[in-house]
Amino acid sequence: MLSGRVAFITGASRGIGRAIARTLSKAGTDIAGIDLNLDELKSAMKMIEDDTGRKAIAVQADVADPASVAKGVEEAIKVLGRIDILVNNAGITRDNILLRMKDEEWDRVIKINLTGTFNCTKAVIKGMVKNRSGRIISIASVVGAMGNVGQANYAASKAGIIGFTKSIAREYANRGITANAIAPGFIETHMTKALSEEVRDVLIKHIPMGRLGMPEDVAHVVEFLASDEAVYITGQVIHVNGGMYM
Ligand SMILES: NC(=O)c1ccc[n+]([C@@H]2O[C@H](COP(=O)([O-])OP(=O)(O)OC[C@H]3O[C@@H](n4cnc5c(N)ncnc54)[C@H](O)[C@@H]3O)[C@@H](O)[C@H]2O)c1
Repeated sequence: MLSGRVAFITGASRGIGRAIARTLSKAGTDIAGIDLNLDELKSAMKMIEDDTGRKAIAVQADVADPASVAKGVEEAIKVLGRIDILVNNAGITRDNILLRMKDEEWDRVIKINLTGTFNCTKAVIKGMVKNRSGRIISIASVVGAMGNVGQANYAASKAGIIGFTKSIAREYANRGITANAIAPGFIETHMTKALSEEVRDVLIKHIPMGRLGMPEDVAHVVEFLASDEAVYITGQVIHVNGGMYM
């Protein structure tokens, strides 16, 4: 379905990012996986290459650092020729109630989640405009729509991604570029492993489907948004949450 395309995926060494890389690779895409953690990233990309036979390169970069992102984009284009699909997936949490939230906890989350999305999108958009085609898919969160106790920084960063996505969608709609966000609910990854059994049980009570989502549940939506079939969808937020927010 996506044969011959190239995807630049941030936070690709594990969790949702790795599932997106594998799913797009299975659909025929060559992958530039981006992460801070080079060892884990290399082994994830190697497994994907072995599995699908498509190219999957590991590029170490920090999405919070524009110079590092520019270098990563340059390397990806040098090896894979172009970037058709950008997936802004790298993200972190630093939870705390507002009364106790440290400036560094606020700054770090905004810098990686929101500014990282800006840095990567800015770095690839010129090539997409030149090609008159492109797909920008950013991973927001249900928390960006609902808010969450202890996550003012994270919720603000994810709501920011949604506003950013809608603006980019408007700016580049007439250049063949779409920009959409996906807002996952709670997904089984390293990020949610940190939750206690107690918090997990309460969470599940609020999910009509009665379980957390799997990384692949998000990856399949990325695959669709990256496809030709999704050409008329832009500026949207697709919720993938088992019904916890409607
Ligand atoms: N897991 C969930 O329940 C959930 C729910 C909603 C949204 N999300 C979002 O999905 C995305 C992926 O989450 P996940 O659960 O797979 O998390 P994860 O912690 O398992 O993976 C995140 C990846 O991003 C990488 N990363 C972190 N900072 C980076 C930086 N500065 N530069 C490059 N890479 C960096 C990490 O090394 C890691 O490999 C995040 O944006 C997260 O906010 C997750």
